[in-house]
Amino acid sequence: MNTFHENGIVILDFGSQYTQLIARRIREKNVYSEILPPDTSCTDIMKRSPKAIILSGGPSSVYEKSSPGYDRDIFDLDVPMLGICYGLQLLTKHYNGHVESSNSGEYGNASINILNSNSLFHSVSSGTQVWMSHMDKVTKIPPGWEIMAESSNGAVAALGNVESKRYATQFHPEVHHTIKGEVILRNFLFDISECSPDWTAGNFIHDQVEIIRNTTKGKEVLAGVSGGVDSTVVGALLNKAIGNRFTAVLVDHGLLRKNEANQCIAALKNGLGVNIHLQDSSDLFLKKLSGIINPEQKRKIIGEQFIRTFEKIAKEKGEIDFLAQGTLYPDVIESGMPKTGAKAEIIKSHHNVGGLPDTMDFTLIEPLRDLFKDEVRKVGLELDLPEALIHRHPFPGPGLAVRIIGEVTEEKLEILREADHIYMEILHEEGLYDEIWQAFSILIPVKTVGVMGDKRTYENLLGIRAVTSNDGMTADWFRMPPEVLSKISNRIVNSVKGINRVVYDITSKPPGTIEWE
Ligand code: XMP
Repeated sequence: MNTFHENGIVILDFGSQYTQLIARRIREKNVYSEILPPDTSCTDIMKRSPKAIILSGGPSSVYEKSSPGYDRDIFDLDVPMLGICYGLQLLTKHYNGHVESSNSGEYGNASINILNSNSLFHSVSSGTQVWMSHMDKVTKIPPGWEIMAESSNGAVAALGNVESKRYATQFHPEVHHTIKGEVILRNFLFDISECSPDWTAGNFIHDQVEIIRNTTKGKEVLAGVSGGVDSTVVGALLNKAIGNRFTAVLVDHGLLRKNEANQCIAALKNGLGVNIHLQDSSDLFLKKLSGIINPEQKRKIIGEQFIRTFEKIAKEKGEIDFLAQGTLYPDVIESGMPKTGAKAEIIKSHHNVGGLPDTMDFTLIEPLRDLFKDEVRKVGLELDLPEALIHRHPFPGPGLAVRIIGEVTEEKLEILREADHIYMEILHEEGLYDEIWQAFSILIPVKTVGVMGDKRTYENLLGIRAVTSNDGMTADWFRMPPEVLSKISNRIVNSVKGINRVVYDITSKPPGTIEWE
């Protein structure tokens, strides 16, 4: 199910680490933005009727033979353009200016002087701090263009041509270190490109409901839900669009957190009236996992068993034509999938227990494939899903199985559930939960000696982890206040039988991963 959103911003990605960030910053201002490969044809771009085109940064230099290809016709379009870093070089070169490689680039914070404060820099004062990252510098500006800002050492920081609506910055307006980056982007979006802020959760839902109805044409749709944000939002959206023609399936593999299955049912069935089928297969999964200690083997067993269970339920349901899935925009970008015309593929099946084999004969519906995670959350809130569920940290498909080192048993699951529940409770009490990207506990079945009252104990070790991250690809350990650590440790050791020692994980990713297995 692919759609173009017209009147948004097209971002041509020349390979910058910040490209996704540009897209998010724009969407935060309620303007749709879409990242496309740098060599997207002018015809394909124009199909989207973009209000503007942004040329991203990138690691290359425009004079290198290996620099990314692009369709030169885009420069003839009567559409505003903003080039950032590499995009600046491209615009400068195309309009007959010159950029030179220098050995000493400018990296990090710099302050700039504004020479034209009417368009891109409206309401931005000289002396403002920006984030520079480049090796090349403009030595000749294109004829008819003007320097709009320069850095304190006299280098061109921004240039443009107001009449033809071509603008370029040597710095990154999308990163937080550029103090007035928000203002600069707003000026470009709303004053220069005349965008309307109509990319809202409400409009998104309205459009998707219509698209889902038109696509499914009276047929049945099935989706797996896991209690996580993405699949729950898919469920709520499908229910709104087609009501009883939609069935959500929750396969309880027995590896969920405390009360998780019930909360998912409560939100979808009791809260929204979603047709939901709960399949309790925990005994079966536990049996299959018995004696298994290798992490990859655990994942494989859980993945395969999940598929079998799901297939069985689907067969019992009779003829099902559509399968809905909570694929998000970062998955689409990372898998390098073309947005249109391509056969829909199941994404991340290797990394996702919700992933299903492509031998299954369904047409995929992926209503969230244009959304970033924060947008999914907004859609969820608009669909009246409970806030606690919407703001829940990510949870891996194989569940607690990869958070119990070694063999998974019911007894260990019970200990981990209780301990993790207390950990989360304290993070909420301390107002820290929403500051953390993901926090969880790990049961390490290594016994150490302790003392409680007059008694010697000999019990398991519990690891606790909390990380900050944007997307899970990289992460840093959360600087948890010592008094909170001590509260967590005390409460867990005092109330969870089976644990007598707690350790805090201070490993970032890389070199660690977020999960322990
Ligand atoms: P790692 O451990 O690879 O995790 O640093 C990155 C993010 O992915 C989650 N994760 C998974 N999610 N199925 C999922 O749906 C999986 O098999 C899986 N393994 C890890 C992890 O919780 C973190 O958010």
